[in-house]
Amino acid sequence: MPFSKIVALGHHVPETVITNQYLSTVMDTTNEWIVERTGINERRWVDPTKDTVANMAAKATRMALKRANLTEKDIEFIVFATITPDYFFPGSGVLLQRELGLEGIGALDIRNACSGFIYALSTADQFIKSGMYKTILVVGAEIQSTALDVTTRGRNVSVIFGDGAGAAILQASDKPGVLSTHLHSDGRFAEELYVKDPGSSRPREIRQPEQILDTTDFKVVMNGNQVFKHAVVRFMEVINEALAASQMTKEQINLLVPHQANLRISQFIQQKMQLRDDQVYNNIMRYGNTTAASIPIALSEAWGEGRVKENNVICLAAFGSGFTWASALIRWI
Ligand code: UT7
Repeated sequence: MPFSKIVALGHHVPETVITNQYLSTVMDTTNEWIVERTGINERRWVDPTKDTVANMAAKATRMALKRANLTEKDIEFIVFATITPDYFFPGSGVLLQRELGLEGIGALDIRNACSGFIYALSTADQFIKSGMYKTILVVGAEIQSTALDVTTRGRNVSVIFGDGAGAAILQASDKPGVLSTHLHSDGRFAEELYVKDPGSSRPREIRQPEQILDTTDFKVVMNGNQVFKHAVVRFMEVINEALAASQMTKEQINLLVPHQANLRISQFIQQKMQLRDDQVYNNIMRYGNTTAASIPIALSEAWGEGRVKENNVICLAAFGSGFTWASALIRWI
């Protein structure tokens, strides 16, 4: 049975920088509040006339392909993680397949929010281990800014989220790169962080456009305190689960790349696990929380900065809407 390894990474973020200072001119918030509670200084929001989720994913993919001296034609299958697809259906996977000119290849969409990239990576890893494919494109991409309530009413959510895309190319290998993946969910908490519409769970009369448009049901609803409390527990559990699966200790982690939910969450985990600064990668200060895109963007940047080296042990971990949480332990070969 072959193993899988990540052979390349790429990312793309929109040009427009939205500073905390700007947000404080459109809603009742301050730079101090945002920095103190989240660690975010700025985020990128798209110009929707220029970027789509699928074309940002294509840009991230092309960067990864170039770094690995591969071409589009090497890709045999796409796994696309997003909760903000271009359309309600079909998923953005097919739009990326079209954009890359990869006639007829399969494209699978994953809707596991902040854990989406690790769920996607795990899925691709199984396809490679089964021998079905040798080269798979795994992407996480989000445009969240177009659905945010950028007024004081939506300030607890809108200051956090950003847009962007990250891509990883996974290939078959005779040695293990992806050592293990661990996926979890607890749907009892589904409504703690969710967007209701366009959901199918209401009678037809309520789902008519004129009724729906009157509501705020297209907006993100988040019980931030509750999400934070569960996140810190689950992050640590799932990181420890990954280490235990390979009989490793936290000292052996060269780089932990946590989903960039809130800098305070990453710092809490780092402190509780007693990890050194050089063992944890954060870029939420510059991009905010980009949901499924956050881990591949961070991993791609970390690689670009020389923080991911041959033979390193890399741990990915995520927690988010669902609730879902997940981890992956990777040896960089
Ligand atoms: O990727 C996974 C998804 N999300 C997360 O992981 C989010 C996890 N949770 C969090 O990051 C934090 O809970 C938040 C950053 C969302 C909120 O921080 P908090 O310390 O939990 O604040 P809070 O919701 O308890 O609100 C405290 C106060 C409230 O005012 P009152 O009721 O005390 O008068 C809010 O209305 O802060 C107010 N507030 C704001 N003030 C200024 C909420 N948002 C803002 C804002 N600017 N943007």
